[in-house]
Amino acid sequence: MLYVGGKWVAEGEAAVHPEDRGYNFGDGIYEVVRIYKGKMFQWDAHIARLFRSAREIRMNLPWSAAELGTLARQLIDKNGITEDDDATLYLQISRGAAPRVHDIPDSIEPVIMGFARKKERPLAEMKKGQTAQLIEDIRWLRCDIKTLNLLGAVLVKQYAKDAGAQDCILHRNGIVTECSSSNVFAVKNGALYTHPADHLILHGITRQVVIDLARENGIPVYEEAFTTDFLKQADELFLTSTTAEIMPIIAVDGQPVGEGSIGPVALKLQDLFEQHINASVLV
Ligand code: PDD
Repeated sequence: MLYVGGKWVAEGEAAVHPEDRGYNFGDGIYEVVRIYKGKMFQWDAHIARLFRSAREIRMNLPWSAAELGTLARQLIDKNGITEDDDATLYLQISRGAAPRVHDIPDSIEPVIMGFARKKERPLAEMKKGQTAQLIEDIRWLRCDIKTLNLLGAVLVKQYAKDAGAQDCILHRNGIVTECSSSNVFAVKNGALYTHPADHLILHGITRQVVIDLARENGIPVYEEAFTTDFLKQADELFLTSTTAEIMPIIAVDGQPVGEGSIGPVALKLQDLFEQHINASVLV
């Protein structure tokens, strides 16, 4: 079951207004939330980011955080996701439908849409790692907003796939930002390096969990911009996201990173992340 604009509908029966601004302009915002064993992971952080994205695009949300929490829970329950299941929950809010003009219409009601699907964790891949291609970051300059307008991400990911890599690492004039749908970390001499949470990257929730876990466990973290040369000399690389969790990058542009397999710091962080998930699904 999907929730679309205030109604519960079966998949295949949902309709989009032809002048919905999410559909016409990518004018809207979204969140992807992880469900572990039927429970929402980091819900408060996702809802805070959703409200921040709304503010940044000048959208007034007519729902409270508690109402959205109830909706999320209903999406999980109505889709048969139980404590035996891992899943993802998708929530998007379009600016709404109005005759097509570029500026924001005065009276317009946001349209919410949500679904939840069972989805297994990428555990085998997290041990094996992925390959990546370095690509210029062609996206706009407000990557901190989780907007529906994802064409930049679509194109860079496809360039990477065309080059035979599984993912891409983006840079602006030689400064590494993030990946198409995840954040990136380099490990050098036992310390973590990642781009600061400014307008050039999405402030990833998994990124923040990893930073906190690292600091709590004595792994130094530098939220500092670094170059593609630094990246190529890193001992380890990994990306983080809600769906990919902590995914090692074992080769960049066809060249192995470190030993060319998952490194000890990524392994340690995966272990800490696992303990953190287990502790949070017990609550
Ligand atoms: N992507 N950077 C970008 C550009 C992203 O799109 C995402 C998330 C992240 C990681 O954020 P988080 O840890 O909060 O998931 C970083 C989601 C999962 C997606 O678009 O599917």
